[in-house]
Amino acid sequence: MSQKITAAITAIDAYLPPDILTNFDLEKMVDTNDEWIRSRTGIIERRILKTPGWASSDMAAEAIKSLLEKKNIDPLSIDVIICATVTPDMVFPATANIIGDKVGMKNAWGFDLSAACSGFLFGLQTGAALIESGKYKKVLVVGVDKMSSIIDYTDRNTCIIFGDGCGVVLLEPNFDGYGIMDCILKSDGSGRKHLHQKAGGSLKPASHETITNKEHFVYQEGQAVFKAAVKGMADVSYEILERNNLKSEDIAWLVPHQANLRIIDATRERMGLPEEKVMVNIQRYGNTTAGTLPLCLYDYESQLKKGDNIILASFGGGYTWGSIWLKWAY
Ligand code: UT7
Repeated sequence: MSQKITAAITAIDAYLPPDILTNFDLEKMVDTNDEWIRSRTGIIERRILKTPGWASSDMAAEAIKSLLEKKNIDPLSIDVIICATVTPDMVFPATANIIGDKVGMKNAWGFDLSAACSGFLFGLQTGAALIESGKYKKVLVVGVDKMSSIIDYTDRNTCIIFGDGCGVVLLEPNFDGYGIMDCILKSDGSGRKHLHQKAGGSLKPASHETITNKEHFVYQEGQAVFKAAVKGMADVSYEILERNNLKSEDIAWLVPHQANLRIIDATRERMGLPEEKVMVNIQRYGNTTAGTLPLCLYDYESQLKKGDNIILASFGGGYTWGSIWLKWAY
């Protein structure tokens, strides 16, 4: 009888740009203040990629090189690279291809996945399916965004929220029942009106007019997204517990998308979890879009134990949202 294959995270790494943009820096740029930002979002500072000539692929390449070196893995042994991002280096080719070139992963194929803040979650499930198929042994799932490349730093509604960063995980087959157990993923394209980038796609290619109208930046109606996020993220996180007969005391960690501390708290409360079981690093990095979930896992890696039940949850542009239940494998 063949053994059941599950897909387990076997390594994590990250890259965070060294430059820090604090709430006090933002006070000098737009009409805002540290107290408002902290109390409404939980954010204190965020990282901004300023290295000349560096794009999303460079942050990802740094994170992956570090992961491969740490685990003594040959870049040629990587089968697939899934790059979740809304800030690709270029419209085409895919950032995954560029990363593959920069790291020397010459035997890997890959693609970009556009699901905004849920990109890493969607990528993790896609990568898991490839591993579970039995055909692939080493799949990298990258969550990376250089949000500063699409943020208008004169718009206080958006510039206070976002930051740059990258996290990456390695997925490998597991035969002992660890790894990704279940997932609920959702999309609702009607939510696009509240959160999008107006120009630069085939609907509205770049022109003098789109630049003058600042249409290459993130457009967000904060309150509408906030309401949908509170409901969406809490609902799926609760649903995944229920359908797997998991009680709140069975959960070691909730790993929520880091968009707003108030959204995180609402999800935690719905799941009946105490604060100490929730990974939070929004105060230091802000919202790094596809980067938030792997950056949380990276920051908390030393506290994770084999067998821990972990719930990942996200909500973001699209709308896209979902949750994944996994059993930590090391
Ligand atoms: O990850 C992708 C998904 N995105 C999200 O999940 C984001 C969801 N939305 C949010 O996190 C929140 O809606 C924001 C943080 C974006 C905004 O917080 P809010 O509590 O919803 O504020 P608001 O937009 O309702 O604005 C409240 C007040 C307004 O002033 P008035 O009309 O009451 O006088 C705003 O003009 O706060 C004002 N305001 C600000 N004041 C100081 C808005 N932005 C700022 C600011 N600094 N940066």
